[in-house]
Amino acid sequence: MIDTAEGFEAQTSTDEQDHVIYRFRNKTFKLNKRLARERMAGKRVINGIRTAELNLLPLKYPEAYRIYKQMKANHWEPDVIDMTRDCTQWNSGALSEKERWIIEMGVGYFSAAEGIVGDSVLHVIEDNLTAAELKHAVLRHVAEESIHMDSLIHIIGSLNIDVDEVTARFNDIPSVRRKNDYITEHLPELKRGIDLTLTANKQRFAKAIFGITQVMEGTQFYALFAMILSLHRQNKMTGIGQMFQYTLRDESNHIALGRYILSELINENPDVWTPAFQTELVQFMREGVELEKDFVRDCLPDDTVGMTQKDFLDFVDFNADRRLKGLGLPTLSQINTNPFTWLDEIIFLKKEKNFFETRVTEYQTGGSVKNANEEDLI
Ligand SMILES: [Fe+2]
Ligand SMILES: [Fe+2]
Repeated sequence: MIDTAEGFEAQTSTDEQDHVIYRFRNKTFKLNKRLARERMAGKRVINGIRTAELNLLPLKYPEAYRIYKQMKANHWEPDVIDMTRDCTQWNSGALSEKERWIIEMGVGYFSAAEGIVGDSVLHVIEDNLTAAELKHAVLRHVAEESIHMDSLIHIIGSLNIDVDEVTARFNDIPSVRRKNDYITEHLPELKRGIDLTLTANKQRFAKAIFGITQVMEGTQFYALFAMILSLHRQNKMTGIGQMFQYTLRDESNHIALGRYILSELINENPDVWTPAFQTELVQFMREGVELEKDFVRDCLPDDTVGMTQKDFLDFVDFNADRRLKGLGLPTLSQINTNPFTWLDEIIFLKKEKNFFETRVTEYQTGGSVKNANEEDLI
């Protein structure tokens, strides 16, 4: 019998001396008993056995594989999103100056931010993980950041936005630069590899996962997503809105994956989870929230049609708290209600069909697009 994580649907039985029959979902695998046990025993989030083979089976972290399947079922392609209407609205004066500014900030910020996340997830998180199924899921996360970067290319090319102007916006607006520097300033050291047997370094790694997936993707992406999707609700820039819907749905899986990896890291390394370190993470989020609120004020200096600045500021608090709660950490605000409940439905796209089912009939993906732990993932 091979030990598996609790609740995992796999069963094993011995059919002969040297093999085990390993059942997972509706598939059956015949594994060499000795190798399977060695592989399972060597699997750790960090400091486990490293092999180039990346043999996934038997799974010690089935939730990572499940999230991988979920991510793949949500696959989408930016190029086929129709931008005709967006172009007409962009060039015909149909948008107010405030609305154009939101779109420009969205394109400017995410053009750089998606790449920063992809690069950091690959060279900070993935490089330091040792368990095959965690690396496997994280590599899919990286691939999705490439899709998100590609969606910005599609937007910029369709609207004929000046690329240099967009890049300059990312560097020249202090609130954008500050929130980015805040997350990324410590990452270069981690990219070079650190000794993860030391508690202090494990904590630096854990903080990097928290920073990238819970503060940046989980909190600092959401207000601007909500602004652009507010325009989409008003039938403005609907091609961009559609892409941001798909992106947001992907982000909810990235947040879930980051939270899962972090939780497993802490389970295996209880020395990481000291009261002082927990306080450090909460403080990290607190400062991230303040930077994000400055950014929201720059994106939406005052209220405009269908958008109230206070709702977006509350939304920052609401998201920060749900990321903290997800890790059992104390919350920061008194905001208990999501000011944008309509986003729930957009994120989960419950009423919409799968991307490929609506576009490429001969292509079948994994079917429905229900997310992991839906209530936690908005
Ligand atoms: Fe992304
Ligand atoms: Fe992401």
